[in-house]
Amino acid sequence: MGVAVDLRTTVGSVDLAAPVMTASGTAGHGDELAAYVDLSTIGAVVVKSLGSTPWAGNPAPRVHPTPSGMINSVGLQGPGVAAWREHELPAVLATGATVVASIWGRHVEDFGAAAEQLAGVDERVVAVEVNLSCPNLDGGAHLFAHDPDATAAALRAASAAGLPMWAKLSSNTDRVVQIAAAAQAAGAEAVTVANTLMGMVIDVDARRPLLGGGGGGVSGPAIHPMAVRTVYDVHAALPDLPIVGVGGVVDGRSAVELLLAGASAVQVGTASFADPRSVRLVLEGVETWCSRAGVSRVRDLIGGAHG
Ligand code: SIN
Repeated sequence: MGVAVDLRTTVGSVDLAAPVMTASGTAGHGDELAAYVDLSTIGAVVVKSLGSTPWAGNPAPRVHPTPSGMINSVGLQGPGVAAWREHELPAVLATGATVVASIWGRHVEDFGAAAEQLAGVDERVVAVEVNLSCPNLDGGAHLFAHDPDATAAALRAASAAGLPMWAKLSSNTDRVVQIAAAAQAAGAEAVTVANTLMGMVIDVDARRPLLGGGGGGVSGPAIHPMAVRTVYDVHAALPDLPIVGVGGVVDGRSAVELLLAGASAVQVGTASFADPRSVRLVLEGVETWCSRAGVSRVRDLIGGAHG
C-alpha cells in the first residue's frame, strides 16, 4: 500500500487542487468534456483561446494524424470573449470547474481588447493564459513568442484583464529562455511551455500541403521530449518563474517527467482527442505514481530532476 498524496499545487498566485489541467484548444470553450470527466476534480479547465471578436478560423481540413501525434491548423476559431462569457462560461462554471481563460490577438491592441472584455469576470476564472504562440494565424505571421519585445508588449496589453497572466510560449525558437524572462518582466506570473511545434503534411497525390491552412502545429507524444527539454531549460535559467508544462502528456509518468523538469502543473491536450477521459486518467496516474514512490506531496516533485 502506498502513501496518501496531497495533489495541491500553486502556479504563481493561483492555488490549484490538482496539478493536471486541460490544454487550451483541446477541451472546447465550455463544458464539452463534462460528459466524460468530473471537471471539478481536475486542476483547471483551460478554454480554447478567444479573440476580441468572433473568428471563423482556417479552412478545412484542420486536423490530421501524424506519427505519435497529430497536426492542426484550426486557426483559433471561436466566439470571442464577450459571447463566451455570456453563452459558454456559465455552463463550465456550473460543473464546479476552476477555469483558466485564454486570449489571442494578431496585433498588440487585439490582446488589450480581448483582455478588457475579460475584466471583472467571475472569480472562478483564476487566470488568463495569453496565447503568444499559435503557428496557424496567417501562416505563422503573428508569433509573438518568437520575440521578447513582442511578447512583453502583448502581455502589457493583456494585463487589462486584471487576472494573473500565464504566457503561452513556443518551442519553435532558440530564444525561449530570453522570451520567458521578458514575459516575467512584463508581468506574467507563469509561462506555459509550450505550444505545438511547427510542421506540415503534404498530400502526395494532390502534391499540395494537406491542411487547409498550409502548415500546422504538431502535438502529442512525438513532441514530449522537446517539451521536457524546454521546461527543463527554462526552469534551470529562471528557477523562480512558475511553469505550466504541456506537450505529449499521456499518462502519470509523462506528467511526472514534466514536473521533475520544473513544471508546477501540467496540461493534457492531444490525448483527450483519443480518449476524452484522459485529463482525469493522467491525474489518477500521477497520484498512483506518487503513492507508490512514497511522494506524499506532489509539489515536492517540481524541479526534482535538477541536481
Ligand atoms: C489553432 O487554433 O490553430 C491552434 C491554437 C494554437 O496553436 O495556439
